Amino acid sequence: MNNLKVDYRFSVAPMMGVTTPSARYMYRLISKEAVLFTEMLASQALHRGDCKKLLRKENIEKPVILQVGGSDISLLKYSTNLANKFDYQGINLNVGCPSKKVSQGKMGACLMKEAELVRDCLSGMREETSMDVSLKCRIGVDEFDSYDFFRNFISTVLESEVKIIFIHARKAFLKGLDPKKNRTLPELKYEFVYNIKKEFPDIKFIMNGGLTNIDDCIEQLKYLDGVMVGRAVQANPFFIKDVDNIFYGQSNIEVNKSDVVKKYFDYIKMNIEIVSTYELLSPLLALCFGVPGSKKFKQEVNELIRARDINKLEETYLSLIAA
Ligand SMILES: Cc1cc2nc3c(=O)[nH]c(=O)nc-3n(C[C@H](O)[C@H](O)[C@H](O)COP(=O)(O)O)c2cc1C
Repeated sequence: MNNLKVDYRFSVAPMMGVTTPSARYMYRLISKEAVLFTEMLASQALHRGDCKKLLRKENIEKPVILQVGGSDISLLKYSTNLANKFDYQGINLNVGCPSKKVSQGKMGACLMKEAELVRDCLSGMREETSMDVSLKCRIGVDEFDSYDFFRNFISTVLESEVKIIFIHARKAFLKGLDPKKNRTLPELKYEFVYNIKKEFPDIKFIMNGGLTNIDDCIEQLKYLDGVMVGRAVQANPFFIKDVDNIFYGQSNIEVNKSDVVKKYFDYIKMNIEIVSTYELLSPLLALCFGVPGSKKFKQEVNELIRARDINKLEETYLSLIAA
């Protein structure tokens, strides 16, 4: 039995510097059902830092999953308890991030070379909670890029009894490629993910990587249990406007873009003294995706942002949406 608590048919991928509480607030105004993820938070930072600040979230965000990085089992257990305490709906361990700094902290994709350790981390996390514990990984790392390697990795981590794995369907190069290039250069191999699902049909596998339109996402559901989309949502938050309808069968849900903008500006006004202007305003910049003349519009918006003229900014956005 795969008794997960959250329905993961569509997730917005965790993105550092992007899926901030403010961006998640905006995404939630657009889709009530899409599963949202925090940026990756290092378990060490959660232990030593101001966890109240790091774990800030809005009530409307549910379901939202805390993503953590780390390989120290006691710190991961500690993070899991924080996720319980701060009312997250699940916790996800990141073993896909290729950044050098992350690897130096024994976090992220380098851990794909240590399947037993990942398994033990996940088991430890599971002991602390009844919420969903999940993993996000790649299909390989460096020279370990065969299907057999991937299969062995998955088979080992499943001994922890996790029931759901998010897979970015390209390998990570730890030497020589920066994180940005690591999201484009290694070839996408969706077939690895389709095959693994066939081998472990009771486990939920979620496809991530290179999904740029809703039709491609729908296609994936023929083979897998869900999709996770990152950059396409970052570039255009309205990408998720039909998710409730298409993926969660909720008909009659019509997203009114002006309403989203108005509600988001209410949020900005309420938080302007507490949250950084950068965090509050950066999700807005993506809202003019694909709009003719958006370059000029972005310049105008940037000037208003610099002047912190929130009322004028709101007017500008509302007239753009109306047009
Ligand atoms: C700016 C940015 C930051 C990211 N930060 C994280 C992160 O914190 N944790 C993580 O697991 N993946 C992170 N990723 C990877 C995404 O979650 C996702 O796996 C990757 O972008 C591929 O999906 P996509 O093609 O839909 O964008 C990040 C991606 C981007 C673009």
